[in-house]
Amino acid sequence: MSELKIYPVKENIAANALIDDAGYQKMYEQSVVNPEGFWREHGQILDWIKPYTKVKNTSYDPGHVDIKWFEDGTLNVSANCIDRHLATKGDEVAIIWEGDNPEEDKSLTYNELHKEVCQFANALKAQGVKKGDVVCLYMPMVPEAAIAMLACTRIGAVHSIVFGGFSPEALAGRIIDSNSTIVITSDEGLRGGRAVPLKQNVDQALTNPDTKCIEKVIVLKRTGGDVAWTEGRDLWWHEITENASEQCEPEEMNAEDPLFILYTSGSTGQPKGVLHTTGGYLVYATMTFKYVFDYQPGDVYWCTADVGWITGHSYLVYGPLANGATTILFEGVPNYPSTARMSEVVDKHNVSILYTAPTAIRALMAKGDEATAGTSRNSLRVMGSVGEPINPEAWEWYYRAIGDEKCPIVDTWWQTETGGILITPLPGATALKPGSATRPFFGVQPALVDNEGQIIEGATEGNLVMVDSWPGQMRTVYGDHERFEQTYFSTFKGMYFTGDGARRDEDGYYWITGRVDDVLNVSGHRMGTAEIESALVAHEKIAEAAVVGVPHEIKGQGIYAYVTLNAGEEPTPELHAEVKQWVRKEIGPIATPDVLHWAEALPKTRSGKIMRRILRKIATGDTGSLGDTSTLADPSVVDKLIEEKAKVV
Ligand code: PRX
Repeated sequence: MSELKIYPVKENIAANALIDDAGYQKMYEQSVVNPEGFWREHGQILDWIKPYTKVKNTSYDPGHVDIKWFEDGTLNVSANCIDRHLATKGDEVAIIWEGDNPEEDKSLTYNELHKEVCQFANALKAQGVKKGDVVCLYMPMVPEAAIAMLACTRIGAVHSIVFGGFSPEALAGRIIDSNSTIVITSDEGLRGGRAVPLKQNVDQALTNPDTKCIEKVIVLKRTGGDVAWTEGRDLWWHEITENASEQCEPEEMNAEDPLFILYTSGSTGQPKGVLHTTGGYLVYATMTFKYVFDYQPGDVYWCTADVGWITGHSYLVYGPLANGATTILFEGVPNYPSTARMSEVVDKHNVSILYTAPTAIRALMAKGDEATAGTSRNSLRVMGSVGEPINPEAWEWYYRAIGDEKCPIVDTWWQTETGGILITPLPGATALKPGSATRPFFGVQPALVDNEGQIIEGATEGNLVMVDSWPGQMRTVYGDHERFEQTYFSTFKGMYFTGDGARRDEDGYYWITGRVDDVLNVSGHRMGTAEIESALVAHEKIAEAAVVGVPHEIKGQGIYAYVTLNAGEEPTPELHAEVKQWVRKEIGPIATPDVLHWAEALPKTRSGKIMRRILRKIATGDTGSLGDTSTLADPSVVDKLIEEKAKVV
């Protein structure tokens, strides 16, 4: 291992930050010694309609997993994100939108956001949307995406956002599982100069006979591109909002009423609908945003994530707006039209807090000075990283080239399931070690366990679990509580299992080592190997498939797919291209295999279980230490695979 560097907290940062190390230690201690008292106090970060008297009511007991926070309080999310700021900040900017084209941008003040959200909320009501209905969003990165989210929360509808890069098939699956009644989309999206046919994808998704739950499709005009129109079903956003009232009373919601569903991949089966509820989620998103980014009035905050991912929910929309911050919503990609686009946007809008992903950092790092050419980035104060482990080289480059060695980097570890950041440095409190997510946030109690579920102490490595609940935790898998218990609470009884492995050093810092299950993290996008395998075997010429992750310089992990064809089929270059295209169509471009390995057979145990351990080693060329292969039904398969690997393109 290279020599370990430590970056102590800079004095000027600690002096001006919301909290320093002593403050962190004290508050953390309070939060775990007396969680009830701690959250009773900090739940006040929100405005409640009816104050809560109960704070924490959670159980991780096998068979009875039940998570409730602030359960007798009532509130409204859009009122917390907008209305409560109007008296003091009505004319301050809530959202800055930066278009894909650097010449296009606009801002919305809190007053303007209020008006737009109320109008759209009234339009939804007029279409029959009621409290508890599920509304599917399949949107580009435009202010209307945030407006639609907030409008749903205003009337108590539950949003289910599907990332605009997912295919019609994937969209249909999510519509069906969530029983959505409305889809909100746009004619087209725009990313990196290319149009994305969103409305056309919705039309195609809705040809699936099981999507009959959808009554209306609301279409925002973004590019003005041609779209097909289904009379009676399709409605233009601008037409249904133009005469809508600018006032809409926020619905009083119970803290435990559902807020949104967001699908995410696991190690088995199809993606799960992660359900977050109203009070605990918003308390946690608001509080983490404030402390992790050291948010202070006047900051301009930019999170580069898409609203289709959890980061876009918690730290692009809800966390920043609940704090009354100015948040940038960026339609494009970090290297278009120029390699320095990300740095240019920082200068253009005087961004003081930047939150992005290791995959973007590595892609820019590969371009060297071009990534910062002609920019100063003087406005930056804090920088963040999320989505996958950040390798120390990328960390150092981010720190030096983007932040000019002035800005602490908060490497934030969390998950769709956790609702908000769980392990992270705080800018004024935590000495940094490149590659480590460092220490738990307030109220978070991580532990490492061995494979038998025994907690292991001290400097060690193991499976990362949480021994107690925090307010932002997911409540269930939508429509399948048993799957929730099975997935997260059955591996290590009485604990929440994250699916990640981690190391803890002598300072108590956590170093996330990556997933220990069959989940891949490709450019920060989470995908189950089972999902890609089932897309592959749905192809008529494919008999069997096994997918493993391999290290990839930019994406973190790449997708390596072993494919066995049906008898009589020949592996041709045409079929190679066709199979890749097929996976794009079934799931989306992010799931396209980097490598296809035509395999005559896969290594299986006598009971028919595929031995992935061997496949992983062959994929990475680590064939010197394949371990025990004697339990294979046919050990000669291994030599054959190694031989085939030489022919893989
Ligand atoms: O493996 C961890 C990795 O991303 C997984 C969660 O993915 P998702 O639900 O899509 O949420 C991503 C954004 C919160 C985790 O199980 N991960 C996320 N952040 C980090 C990370 N791994 C290491 N370091 C991080 N900072």
